[in-house]
Amino acid sequence: MSFTLPDLPYSHDSLDKLGMSKETLEFHHDLHHKAYVDNGNKLIAGTEWENKSVEDIISGTYNNTSVAQNGIFNNASQHWNHCQFWEMMGPNGKTIPSSLEKNIIENFGSVEKFKEEFTAAGIGQFGSGWCWLVQEGDGSLKVTKTENGVNPICFNQNALLGCDVWEHSYYIDFRNKRPAYLSNFLENLVDWENVASRLK
Ligand SMILES: [Fe+2]
Repeated sequence: MSFTLPDLPYSHDSLDKLGMSKETLEFHHDLHHKAYVDNGNKLIAGTEWENKSVEDIISGTYNNTSVAQNGIFNNASQHWNHCQFWEMMGPNGKTIPSSLEKNIIENFGSVEKFKEEFTAAGIGQFGSGWCWLVQEGDGSLKVTKTENGVNPICFNQNALLGCDVWEHSYYIDFRNKRPAYLSNFLENLVDWENVASRLK
């Protein structure tokens, strides 16, 4: 199945006052994400992956030493990651639903402790990558960090929240201040209703 660039679920300028500018979304969604879609489609054309779902492509090409398979993995995973990322943010949804809040408190002690752990994971990811709140198969929640395009699908985890810590995600608005970008992401950009809807 070929990859398609989804529209943003909100207008390009709707997160501007919340710390993610129209310019960032124009570069990040319209150019960076589109490049993963276009490159991925070129790489899967005529291969065994051409008619597979993006999730199957990610699972099937992860950790493959072949350069060709690794190229497919990078573009497929980054396409999936960005699709989730756009949906996990929004101009509304600032309150954490009680079901999710209860889960977070059970697993991390408090919402603040979870936020500290998530921010530390994002800061601690050396170079490009992502930090995540994931749900394991036993239902427990965990904070993780991954390099480049690697994502929770690779570890059979359910992605509840992910933050892109590639420089292209924050350099226009926050320059080199990744900690400030992460803090703003958690306080102003996350759509917690979307995060809660991902709980299994
Ligand atoms: Fe990105």
